[in-house]
Amino acid sequence: MGEKTARRPGGGGGYDFVVVANRLAVDRLTYQDGSTGWRRSPGGLVTALAPIMAESDGAWVGWHGAADETLEPFDHEGMHLVPVPLSALEVEEYYEGFSNGTLWPLYHDVIARPEFHRHWYEAYRRVNQRFAEATAATAAKGAVVWVQDYQLQLVPAMLREMRPDVRIGFFNHIPFPPSGLFSQLPWRQAVLRGLLGADLIGFQRESDARNFQRAVRSRLGLYIRSDQVYVVSEPSSDELGSSIAGHGEDPARGLGTRRTSAPEDGGHRISEARAFPISIDTERIVALSERPDIIARSQQIRRELGEPSTVLLGVDRLDYTKGIRHRMKALEELLAEKAVSPEDVCLVQVASPSREGVESYRLLREEIEATVGRINGEYDTMAHTAIRYLHHSYPVEEMVALYLAADVLLVTALRDGMNLVAKEYVAARRDGGGVLVLSEFTGAADQLKQALLVNPHDVDELKASILQAVHMDEEESRRRMRTLRRQVTSNNVQRWAQDFLNRLEELS
Ligand code: G6P
Repeated sequence: MGEKTARRPGGGGGYDFVVVANRLAVDRLTYQDGSTGWRRSPGGLVTALAPIMAESDGAWVGWHGAADETLEPFDHEGMHLVPVPLSALEVEEYYEGFSNGTLWPLYHDVIARPEFHRHWYEAYRRVNQRFAEATAATAAKGAVVWVQDYQLQLVPAMLREMRPDVRIGFFNHIPFPPSGLFSQLPWRQAVLRGLLGADLIGFQRESDARNFQRAVRSRLGLYIRSDQVYVVSEPSSDELGSSIAGHGEDPARGLGTRRTSAPEDGGHRISEARAFPISIDTERIVALSERPDIIARSQQIRRELGEPSTVLLGVDRLDYTKGIRHRMKALEELLAEKAVSPEDVCLVQVASPSREGVESYRLLREEIEATVGRINGEYDTMAHTAIRYLHHSYPVEEMVALYLAADVLLVTALRDGMNLVAKEYVAARRDGGGVLVLSEFTGAADQLKQALLVNPHDVDELKASILQAVHMDEEESRRRMRTLRRQVTSNNVQRWAQDFLNRLEELS
């Protein structure tokens, strides 16, 4: 450990900017000789924050992805990494359980049924406490701490209790549910209190920020003006552990005691909650889309598919929120009605493996694979396939080649915080080609209005949109893509991060 990890007076380690996320910003690699190393994670968030980290003495606190393993903090490519250990039972109860069996389905409109288990919440609280402690020990006096996503919603309040000197931001990458659904959560007040520990709480869409504000008003009775919540007292750790945090006991907090004006005694703190729609590393995708080897690869992909006149593409984590079944049903009906044929149209579906320890994900995989088998069995010919299904993750270079090979990208999510695949596709289409079919239930639909917006629950509308995309004349598709590209090229993830951090600075 170098000088930076030594504790400085005022508490904490020496890091002025600390990002806290369930996953660490690096992935472990195993080389052919069996040795291991680390590689920076490819995602947009890491790409956006890495330069800020390098400039400002930054550290990243997160789980390194393996159970029952404790690792010392280490440095990698200008970032200080602080691995947070999880036991196998915590992976089951905190990660697969409360995060992905309770919060994920609840926050995605209960597409799957959320399960509520007290021991899952207890593990969530305990792991959030561990993340908060690791952060408190890493942040320099007065540091900026940015907590990411639904797995860590209690961290802001826990950290504030330990380190009132730091500035705390929180960003929710997934939707925030309507107050009626959120109310199902037995620990709803503790979660709201946890989030309100942040000075700035960011959401993907305006509607997510409004849902959060409504829940805060109705569940905690706090006063809100112009996105600013007047937080009148902080929760204790006990309250974050209980399902009845503040429940009716303190008139300033309890239900039915909604404040209609700002507290006058000044004994409050402001927590601002508003939308900051995330974007992608646009320049990187554009640069890749211009690389001759990637363009050649995109042509090779089309040849390997048997040169169909239209390549449809789906790229998703294999998740029930993505509406993969819906798009396959639409395609199956179009094939049955002979509106399209496998010689003309091929769907390439990349479904990257995800959360396979969670029952609903295992069931989804079985269902999707049975559906692909049925459709291909019925409609494939020796030379052509209806659906080329790929249960893999691919490097970004191959993804950009696929974007260039695809005439139509199908994003049919039933609910999605943003959907960065839609933005990447648009960024990659510098050639002006390609049509985007986009579910209106994605955050991206708020910005990408020139896409063919669809309600994926309406199979007839989905079929009509697919046909419209397949047959769209070039002039119209180019006009739409030009407008979409203007949106994506003027809002990259670097700007998103800067906007959020500037606002956090202003607030303090
Ligand atoms: C979503 C979440 C992220 C999460 C990612 C992958 O994008 O917002 O927080 O990291 O899915 O899921 P996983 O469970 O593998 O981390």
